[in-house]
Amino acid sequence: MCGIVGYLGSNGAYEILIQGLKRLEYRGYDSAGVALVTPAGDLNVHKSQGKVANLEQVAAAGCIDGSLGIAHTRWATHGEPNDVNAHPHVSQSGDIALVHNGTIENYSVLKTALEEHGYSFKSETDTEVLVQLIDYIKSTSNCSLEEAVREALLQVEGAYAVAVVEKNDPDKLVVARKSSPLVIGVGENETFIASDATPIIGYTDQVIYLKDNEMAVIRRDQPLAITSIDSNIPSTIDIQKLKLSLAQLEKGGYDTFMLKEIFEQPNTLRDCLRGRISSDCSHVTLSGVELNKEKFLQAERITLVACGTSWHAALIGKRLIQDFCKIPVEVEYASEFRYGNPVLNEKDIVISISQSGETADTLAAIQLAKEKGAFVYGVCNVVGASIPRNTDSGTYIHVGPEIGVASTKAFTGQVTVLTLLALAVGQLRGMVDSETVKQVATALKAMPKIIKETLKCDPEVQNISRMFTYAHNFLYLGRGYNYPTALEGALKLKEISYIHAEGYPAAEMKHGPIALIDHEMPSVIIAPSDSLYDKIISNVQQVKSRGGAVVAIVSKGNTAMNDIADYCIEIPEVPECLTPLVASIPLQLLAYYIAVNKGKNVDQPRNLAKSVTVE
Ligand code: M6R
Repeated sequence: MCGIVGYLGSNGAYEILIQGLKRLEYRGYDSAGVALVTPAGDLNVHKSQGKVANLEQVAAAGCIDGSLGIAHTRWATHGEPNDVNAHPHVSQSGDIALVHNGTIENYSVLKTALEEHGYSFKSETDTEVLVQLIDYIKSTSNCSLEEAVREALLQVEGAYAVAVVEKNDPDKLVVARKSSPLVIGVGENETFIASDATPIIGYTDQVIYLKDNEMAVIRRDQPLAITSIDSNIPSTIDIQKLKLSLAQLEKGGYDTFMLKEIFEQPNTLRDCLRGRISSDCSHVTLSGVELNKEKFLQAERITLVACGTSWHAALIGKRLIQDFCKIPVEVEYASEFRYGNPVLNEKDIVISISQSGETADTLAAIQLAKEKGAFVYGVCNVVGASIPRNTDSGTYIHVGPEIGVASTKAFTGQVTVLTLLALAVGQLRGMVDSETVKQVATALKAMPKIIKETLKCDPEVQNISRMFTYAHNFLYLGRGYNYPTALEGALKLKEISYIHAEGYPAAEMKHGPIALIDHEMPSVIIAPSDSLYDKIISNVQQVKSRGGAVVAIVSKGNTAMNDIADYCIEIPEVPECLTPLVASIPLQLLAYYIAVNKGKNVDQPRNLAKSVTVE
């Protein structure tokens, strides 16, 4: 949550910072702000509630000079979204400005102590405490900015990525991180810092991922200095080459990032599968599994941890791993797992699934699993994020930057990688027969084409969406592999259209939720021609006989449902274990069009952020 960006170089900082904020807006859009230090040593701060566009209007009326600056886009935690609580926060002396992503847990104790020293506070944020603390340390011990930042951070409990500038020093930018990400872009006579690499793309492809508990002092015309916060010991500087392109960050002719990302799925799945299935489809290779054969052979249990959509992918992963590897599998919400005192040992494998690789609860869960001796494997999208850097091994889903807050292509990428992983481990352990591998791997290899075919349902789904724009509640029902698909369909609708939706195992409906069904409660039923098809037909009939409208997702050519459901959306027939991949496409589109019909901002739904880096 929250995005920070900074610049020190030979160009005007303002435009670079504003563009960077726009690219980071998916991390939060409650408010935005910028602080610029002029060559003469003035500090100009502009901030505004709402989106970056509001900030631009405010800043246009003021001074935007300077080639050093920091900026922030906020997802509110402490204090409501308004101009005062917007970052950057400036110290009482007016000398120091700071932007922060994270949470200062002991802010109230620090605030009381600072008040006793005569400091007063304008905002309700935890961040303002940090900038005042730096100011206090600097003024009382007459030290440098970086020394004051270090000393202050040693007193702080919580998570942070911070960038700090000082009024009288237009040549220095100080940054630090603990449990919140920070990337440094190294250009020709210019340095960029940001919460992720997106603001840096197009300026330089040389990046440094600051490690946990590190701080960096960036000085004009001087080498970068990185040290550990605790010990001040210099760190080795590991410059990596960024492989992202500008085109990946643009809408490419679509109205929204979400629609672009839905339609990108044939290509993203091609990238995700590349090099992982042998040409005759007899073998699946994941290097993370290959390199850790012993761990996967000895494993007595696998636990999947994740949040949100990634947790839904984990539920599908559980079925896949159980079916192909015959290992007991558990699925946990990372937020519950981390406080659930899990019983783990070195024969456990914990697989963390995360698009961003920065989700705070998932990071804490893997930390705990490591402490307990488990082998920790990551399934992640963002290359170089905290989760891949903190896991023992893993697999990238390689679906490219996902900018829409509602996860679409990452979900199908995660399910694809979990299918590959289940097949690879199943083969390794001798638990899956070669015929099954061939059948699933062949269908998986064809998935880019199959998804392209599935996307042809777009106009039909758009028509159906018009019938439900004003519904207040929805039920999503599925069984077996598609119970998690139902959960995911319901989440998509909730988060972008603000319509209440519940995902349920279809057969469980009669144990309670059936009481909700009347002509105002539509149900979306995922009913491909699989082993549970006959069962789900009777579930559909139960809904219909109580007056509920039914949208059924059925396999192509299956006309049996036509007489029962109000609307049928056909999807290509695939092996049962792959039906979630195909069935999720019309569900993504249905949520999308209902939200668009309602005039909602699908890319930036209210109260949400793409990367949840707070508890
Ligand atoms: O980056 P992660 O996959 O760890 O994020 C987990 C959830 O925050 C995320 O899936 C969220 O539920 C999405 N908004 C769903 O569309």
